[in-house]
Amino acid sequence: MSNYHIKHLEEYYQVYRKSVREPENFWEEVAEEHFMWRKKWDNVLSWDFSKPEVKWFEGAQLNITENCIDRHLATRGNKTAILFEPNNPNEASISISYKELSERVNKFANVLKDHGIEKGDRVCIYLPMIPKLAVSVLACARIGAIHSVVFAGFSSTALSTRINDSQCKMVITSDGSYRGSKTIDLKGIVDEALNDCSCVETVLVVKRIQSDIHMESGRDKWLQPLLDNASSICPVEVMNAEDPLFILYTSGSTGMPKGMVHTTAGYMVYTAYTFKNVFQYREDDIYWCTADIGWITGHSYIVYGPLANGATTVMFEGVPSYPDYGRFWEIVQKHKINQFYTAPTAIRALAKQGLEVVEKYDLSSLKTLGSVGEPINEEAWHWYNDNIGKKKSPIVDTWWQTETGGIMITPIPFVTPTKPTYATLPFIGIQPALMDENGYEIKGNQVDGRLCIKFPWPSMARTIWGNHQRYKDTYFSAFENKYFTGDGALRDEVGYYRITGRVDDVIIVSGHNLGTAPIEDAVNEHPAVAESAIVGFPHDVKGNALYGYVILKDTGESRDHTNLRKEINQIITEHIGPIAKLDKIQFTPGLPKTRSGKIMRRILRKIACNDTSNLGDTSTLLNPEVVQSIIDGAKDSK
Ligand code: WT7
Repeated sequence: MSNYHIKHLEEYYQVYRKSVREPENFWEEVAEEHFMWRKKWDNVLSWDFSKPEVKWFEGAQLNITENCIDRHLATRGNKTAILFEPNNPNEASISISYKELSERVNKFANVLKDHGIEKGDRVCIYLPMIPKLAVSVLACARIGAIHSVVFAGFSSTALSTRINDSQCKMVITSDGSYRGSKTIDLKGIVDEALNDCSCVETVLVVKRIQSDIHMESGRDKWLQPLLDNASSICPVEVMNAEDPLFILYTSGSTGMPKGMVHTTAGYMVYTAYTFKNVFQYREDDIYWCTADIGWITGHSYIVYGPLANGATTVMFEGVPSYPDYGRFWEIVQKHKINQFYTAPTAIRALAKQGLEVVEKYDLSSLKTLGSVGEPINEEAWHWYNDNIGKKKSPIVDTWWQTETGGIMITPIPFVTPTKPTYATLPFIGIQPALMDENGYEIKGNQVDGRLCIKFPWPSMARTIWGNHQRYKDTYFSAFENKYFTGDGALRDEVGYYRITGRVDDVIIVSGHNLGTAPIEDAVNEHPAVAESAIVGFPHDVKGNALYGYVILKDTGESRDHTNLRKEINQIITEHIGPIAKLDKIQFTPGLPKTRSGKIMRRILRKIACNDTSNLGDTSTLLNPEVVQSIIDGAKDSK
């Protein structure tokens, strides 16, 4: 019996129950039936959340690129693996077949080897959304190098922090990137970052925008001539199930980003299985996820999940607004997209443009719509459902995280009845729990609490690179024997989950996960700033926007606030990237603090939302008088 494709709700419940009662048997069957192993496992699962230590398919040997490429060659060699749609609609799109992908990955893998990259070495990839990005990821995986993709919108400081943290030996980048009508000097950003990174020996440079860039002799090399001379046969490195596949950084509650480590076998099995079921992918479908491969969504659901299923996956280089706000729909029509997966922030931005730009295009190919990255509000959900899906393509609101590797709570299209703003039911094998503040699990329905997961799943991150203690403290210490997600959730009368948002110091802006601490650190770098606190407030396109409370140093002289605002945002752009810029800045004489010196963000959040009716008990504050002055000053925030 194949339990790979769930077909109706009863079957979901049946398979779900089995996956919970006999998780090892369940995942063993999935792993046996659908993948290529060099050697099968000795043990399906061993785990201990108190350490925490989780191992799936121990003893197994494989290479994920054999599963994503080689095994398809006999049956799907000429099928399109990657369909590339460039930033400029007048530039031709490119179809890369599985056979061509195989050649490209093998050549690239040989170039990596020629430059001394070996199993276990870290390679940083800082590229725009062009086919070379996917190819370089796969080339690393083929030889067992650990890729660390850094989103090519991050600043040079953010890049150097990540390169140094995992001691990357190589950086793969391009001469620049196209982004709508702009070009970005990626190589210049890399050059600046590398002033602080002594670990990098080689920089491979892809030509994309034909710009005139500096090439550091001995370090920087144009990639194309190397590929032209490389052999298209590169035997795979045989990997152990728990060998690291990649590192991907995510923001945390301190300044240092967390390098989440994902391993090979479990990640492959779970992303492939979820891809197939959550999108109900059928052999000739064209699937498009609009994310960037710089985020986990791109790793799992542009590259690995789709390719492990022999799917056709679209890569789009551009932005939704270029050359106009109809671009997404034009691409859906052009490539007859069947599954379309995007983020609520994009949906809200596009909904604002009115229906004219949608109605010009034929969207009848669409079968399934996806949403990911943040809670989707009711209005956006209906707009998406009515105008894009025409009420016939179910929306899968998929809740998951960089740390979870794959989709965790989601409807299965044509199987799970959808409900606006609800991610609905746990995926097969996922055991959620809602916890109260005293650490007890809240049973039953119509309840809300902190969202935890009680049992391991194959694609969970195994550690934080170089800091296992932080992994334990962040995810396994709040609730005993449970993985804590950092999100709050409610469970309705039928057991559907609705994610209500972060309960920690992470703010999701336009679907980007931003920690308040690193942004505060950046703001505090400004010589005039004494202290700062960042909170989120609702924004109709971005979901949340950032509001900064800033205390200036007392120098006795008056300062030009307009300039200060610009300078502060400039520093944030340099340290993190433009996505972390503050929408509003309020200069304030003080911040509300508890007696232990902790900033009471709850109060600041309420003031930023202009909701000062019920600030709760402020009498326990160290400085209760400051609250009124912050409320009074809020009207001057800009
Ligand atoms: C956080 C994880 C998973 C890929 C993109 C983000 C929020 C994500 C949903 C959703 C409500 C969501 C959560 C989560 N989130 N998807 N469907 N509904 N919230 O990955 O950057 O690691 O962020 O994004 O708050 O914890 P990430």
